[in-house]
Amino acid sequence: MTHTTMRAMVIEKTGGPEELVAADLPWPCRVGSDVLVAVHAAGVNRVDAEARSGRADSGAVRTWPAVLGHDFSGVVVEAPYAAHPLRPGDEVFGMAAFPHTSGTYAEYISVPATSLARKPATLSHVEAAGVPLAALTAWGMVVEVAKAHEGQRVLVQAGAGGVGHFAVQLASYFGAHVVATGSQRNSGWLRDLGADEVVDYGSVELSRSVRDVDVVIGLVDDDDVAAQSLAVLRPGGLAVHAPLRSWRAFAAKAEAKGVRSTGFAVCPDAATLAVLSRLIDSGDLRVHVDDIYDLADAADAHSRLEQNHTRGKLVLRVADE
Ligand SMILES: NC(=O)c1ccc[n+]([C@@H]2O[C@H](COP(=O)([O-])OP(=O)(O)OC[C@H]3O[C@@H](n4cnc5c(N)ncnc54)[C@H](OP(=O)(O)O)[C@@H]3O)[C@@H](O)[C@H]2O)c1
Repeated sequence: MTHTTMRAMVIEKTGGPEELVAADLPWPCRVGSDVLVAVHAAGVNRVDAEARSGRADSGAVRTWPAVLGHDFSGVVVEAPYAAHPLRPGDEVFGMAAFPHTSGTYAEYISVPATSLARKPATLSHVEAAGVPLAALTAWGMVVEVAKAHEGQRVLVQAGAGGVGHFAVQLASYFGAHVVATGSQRNSGWLRDLGADEVVDYGSVELSRSVRDVDVVIGLVDDDDVAAQSLAVLRPGGLAVHAPLRSWRAFAAKAEAKGVRSTGFAVCPDAATLAVLSRLIDSGDLRVHVDDIYDLADAADAHSRLEQNHTRGKLVLRVADE
């Protein structure tokens, strides 16, 4: 192979979006059962912005300069061994380690074979890169923890976001009655995704329009929003929450109210990615890409993400398709 360096977007220190700068780095070294992938597109996630700003778990950034990014879609350059089911040229998508920064804002990445699956055939690389981390999180919260099923009332707080738009679809797919919160402009779109009810959080107090919820999928790190979630759960109901800065207080309030609560943390998972890929190719699950940025414009993507009104996903284009 002739290339020895690659383009990447790195941070030298934590801070605002302007800390994301271009760099030439050596190709990653493929070891053991890793797969070397040429990244065609990289999804942008809130956890990337949290690592960039220094709000992520300490230790999320292990080496400096740090290449951010967890989600990727691309093409296999080198498989672990000759008899491996993946071959050079195969199209794959996946999620590298989390919460450690794993470096998909780059032209190449080396990831464990357990972190990726074949790309959904019906999606472009840009679309596929928007799926892994958010859809795995939604699957984990809605399907594995909450066990979404017919007759269950599921409230998705922030239904229009990256995780939320998958959570709404998966809860609906498994037969639950889905209530989603979102702004007025997203109301019709959320119903189209499968929400039975949409509550405009900007103009309606949740507890005035929703009650007796079995499960809350909590995707807003805000004490007032979390308190509203507890207020609408039925006794014995379940709050599945993405990390809240005030988690201990939330869990104590949940217990006092007689509802169950748990956090959730996503893991790379090739088998679930393959299931999600099949659901996408069968038309049962959609990804919405709100905007596409060139890799060099990663800072703009982070600024946009931090406005907190992304519909679905933002994606970085790394290679021309
Ligand atoms: N622990 C894990 O494994 C894990 C994994 C992934 C994500 N997360 C966390 O999960 C959360 C959601 O992530 P994400 O990627 O889905 O975020 P995101 O895409 O950036 O979420 C943006 C969405 O949030 C909605 N929103 C903002 N404030 C709201 C409110 N008060 N009520 C209802 N909706 C509101 C916006 O809808 P409108 O435009 O309609 O206002 C927008 O569509 C983040 O806190 C993230 O860190 C955790």
